[in-house]
Amino acid sequence: MVDKDNILYARIVNKITELMPLPETIQKIVDLTRNPDTPLKKISDALESDEAMATKVLKLANSSFYGFSKQVKTISHAVVCLGFNTIKQMALTAHSFSVLDKQLDGYYLDRGAMFQHSFGTALASRLLATKMYYPNAEEVYLMGLLHDVGKVILNQFAEQEFNKVIEEYNKGGLMFYEAERKVLGFDHGDIGSAVCQKWNLSDDIVETIRCHHNPEEASAGNISVHMVHIANIIVSIMGLGIGAGGVDQKISEKSLSVLNLKEEDISMLMMSIMDELENDETLASFRNA
Ligand SMILES: [Fe+2]
Ligand SMILES: [Fe+2]
Repeated sequence: MVDKDNILYARIVNKITELMPLPETIQKIVDLTRNPDTPLKKISDALESDEAMATKVLKLANSSFYGFSKQVKTISHAVVCLGFNTIKQMALTAHSFSVLDKQLDGYYLDRGAMFQHSFGTALASRLLATKMYYPNAEEVYLMGLLHDVGKVILNQFAEQEFNKVIEEYNKGGLMFYEAERKVLGFDHGDIGSAVCQKWNLSDDIVETIRCHHNPEEASAGNISVHMVHIANIIVSIMGLGIGAGGVDQKISEKSLSVLNLKEEDISMLMMSIMDELENDETLASFRNA
């Protein structure tokens, strides 16, 4: 937990709405879907009012991932076919892609690298969720996509302090997020989780983003944090957008045991991730929309 007197943390959190606002349409959809009794019509009206977003959602709804035999032609049809949770996940995913398409000098991540790492972690997280028959694999995908979103804010807002983090890390002995904690009193997970809180996302998302480097600190019922933790490390081992810190973290024993995974399952997972990366249409849907 971040010390409540940490001034830098308070300053950054106060700036989040300005630095990383959630577009009005998406905020509306997130808020509406918090109430399960919201009529579907209200969701489709909100989505239809944003033409660009509506196009992206339709493209995604027609991608092979959802496997509908007939073409989904209208937003109201998409909302009925997919349910509003999936629609919300899609709208957030579409937005996250643009938020993450950034170059982060402080983390030695060029534009493509940050994007590739986030996208790879999202795919790997969803793969684990599906393997575990987790009920909301799309939400785990979003967690994977957003897990390092705090880096975007820190890179922008704490440039000077960041040099001290790098110095501390270069001394050796600490993992990168530990160097952040030592110098700043918090890490990029704390900031990412504050972003998700400002966006009014679920408690599970907020906690998973905060604890993706230290899943032991999450509450006992949170399974998704272990998926995202493992996905993040696997994707880093695979060399997808590693940046500052390289592959300095080992997979938590607790995560392996909660998900009942053995070391050999990890190499199988890597193969599946490669496959998914080659065949996934989400990226193309969003980039070409
Ligand atoms: Fe991270
Ligand atoms: Fe990461």
